[in-house]
Amino acid sequence: MVERTTVGTMAPPSLRRDCIVCCDDLAGLDAILRDDVLAVIATPPPPLWLPALAAAVEAGEISLPRTQLDDCTRAALADWLTRNLPPLPVLAPLHEELLSLVDLLAGLTGARRFMVRLLAAAPNTECGFHVDTVPPGAPSFGLVRVYNGPGTLYPDPSDVTGYADFYRYLSRRERLGRERSEARAAADIATAAAAEAEIRGLDAQALFLRNPQALRSTPPAAVVAFKHLDASEHWSERSSRSAWIHCSPMQGPPRLLVNITAVDRGLRRLRLPGASAPPPPDRAT
Ligand SMILES: [Fe+2]
Repeated sequence: MVERTTVGTMAPPSLRRDCIVCCDDLAGLDAILRDDVLAVIATPPPPLWLPALAAAVEAGEISLPRTQLDDCTRAALADWLTRNLPPLPVLAPLHEELLSLVDLLAGLTGARRFMVRLLAAAPNTECGFHVDTVPPGAPSFGLVRVYNGPGTLYPDPSDVTGYADFYRYLSRRERLGRERSEARAAADIATAAAAEAEIRGLDAQALFLRNPQALRSTPPAAVVAFKHLDASEHWSERSSRSAWIHCSPMQGPPRLLVNITAVDRGLRRLRLPGASAPPPPDRAT
């Protein structure tokens, strides 16, 4: 692992110094097992098939509505991909790619069952800054990869004023999102537009950040391992753990992304970075 950068010093609530690690290869993702690491951003050499896939996504030739597979094994994912992805040559390498990410997360967590979210669509303002959650007791991290277009936006942890401020932002944004949805459903264009404007202002101000203009962006096609919040601790500013605050870009070309989390408890083992990985899961299950 080549650790190029480590940033961040967000201390509350545990006085721990949270950081974000950047590395050049997937082996470096092991650092997510460290308690003080919020995210590990790995930028391995991009696969040769990626430019063609990216071009097809950005040209609108591949469109995938937000899809969530709640509780699937590796084999179930392989079956779903075969049955549901269009049989386009440009998509063929994506099957093995997605399964390799599942194997990667299985190696880190020991889990056998996963939630997989896929999307190929244009960015929008539906989702602002947030933290991802996992079911109570599940391994508290997951993987995301954005295959084309702008990366995921995130603040330096030291720029976050605290979880109380973040949850204040989040509750207001979710309320505005509900208002906008209800207005759209009622064809109330003026109210929907007002809610949209307020959402944009809220995101631009990002009052939980000391410097909202200093957001970072994950590099193209990076594989990111990042801390999630146990769902039982969501909305608690006194959570014993921190999670990666992030946000998708809200404009630009269509993007293809996958987000994978473990939903079973896995082996629940503690392992130091650099230790050998456990054997892969039984792929027949
Ligand atoms: Fe997220």
